[in-house]
Amino acid sequence: MLPSLGCHAHRFACVYRAGKSVTFDADSTILKYMNILVIGGAGYIGSHVARELLDRGHRVTVFDNLSSGLRENLFQEAAFVHGDMIRYEQLVQSMNGMDGAVYLAAFKAVGESMVKPEKYSVNNIVGAVNLLNAASETGLKYIIFSSSAAVYGEPAYLPIDEKHPTNPENYYGFTKLEIEKFLSWYDRLRGIRCASLRYFNAAGYDVKGRIKGLEQNPANLIPIIMETACGTRGGLQIFGGDYDTPDGTCIRDYIHVSDLAAAHALALDYISANGKSITVNLGSEKGSSVREVLETARRVTGKPIPAAVSDRRPGDPAKLTASAALARELLGWEAKHSGLETLIKTSWDAYNQA
Ligand code: UFG
Repeated sequence: MLPSLGCHAHRFACVYRAGKSVTFDADSTILKYMNILVIGGAGYIGSHVARELLDRGHRVTVFDNLSSGLRENLFQEAAFVHGDMIRYEQLVQSMNGMDGAVYLAAFKAVGESMVKPEKYSVNNIVGAVNLLNAASETGLKYIIFSSSAAVYGEPAYLPIDEKHPTNPENYYGFTKLEIEKFLSWYDRLRGIRCASLRYFNAAGYDVKGRIKGLEQNPANLIPIIMETACGTRGGLQIFGGDYDTPDGTCIRDYIHVSDLAAAHALALDYISANGKSITVNLGSEKGSSVREVLETARRVTGKPIPAAVSDRRPGDPAKLTASAALARELLGWEAKHSGLETLIKTSWDAYNQA
């Protein structure tokens, strides 16, 4: 038995909310404030997205199996369903009355995906198929999908735009690309509009400090540096110091999670107003090397952060940067908080207080 969703379960029940009327366009199909299911909304990126949607007046229900999501990332103003996408009936029940879904719940460890493909097939691919079938069954109109720059594989040119060939080099990236294809077929056959958002390197914490839950066993650079600064890790391994880059370490495009969250809300506005699906990159268009990230973290935290160069990590391209021109053009989006200082400072605020 799932918990009651209250007014979230009735699409047109909440006509007035906190003094704001729900507004419709001329043909009464576009809802300005929507009922949104945020699947994976207790996770790192999901909690930032849920916060952003709430701030913009949407009615949010978080659906999360808490396998990596945290109860402390839930907000009082949002309903919560402790559910799993693999359980189709749970998903259908939670999607009844929803206008849209943000689909974040997925396994995302690139290295693990290469040794445990079955785990990624079930969670990522089966989860996505369940979502789409549940969307058909319930009449859900809009999906915002957390895709990844991992769909591109080794860059053929930089910066990477959306026309770049897609040739994922790891199973995780393959699952993201396949899900994009499912979404595009359901757009064509079922009229479900979708925004596939290809994130580059998500980092940072809510600029207003409202999200406190820290990722468990992180595999990404900035949280590893933060754990080292806190003393919960002994040191940072720099994976390769002999790349063809100015300081020999890999360059990535780090994008602040609050900027990512804003893009989700804008993408929802776009696909509902224009009635068409989109695929866009989300990156800062700036490249930072591992050493630059480390030096900024040493300065901002005031901690020594021990580090040593080790072997290259297999599959790491020397340099990845995004073109976000399409997101700017279609969504009016820009990265506002993605300077290295802000990325590190907001991360340190979260780690230092924990
Ligand atoms: N790195 C280290 N030491 C570490 C961890 C990372 O030197 O302990 C380096 C990596 O070699 C890489 C950079 O830091 O050069 C960033 O590595 P991350 O593991 O943080 O991120 P990736 O660039 O490998 O991948 C991330 C996401 C993927 C996504 C990709 C898109 O994890 O899901 O960005 O650009 F697909």
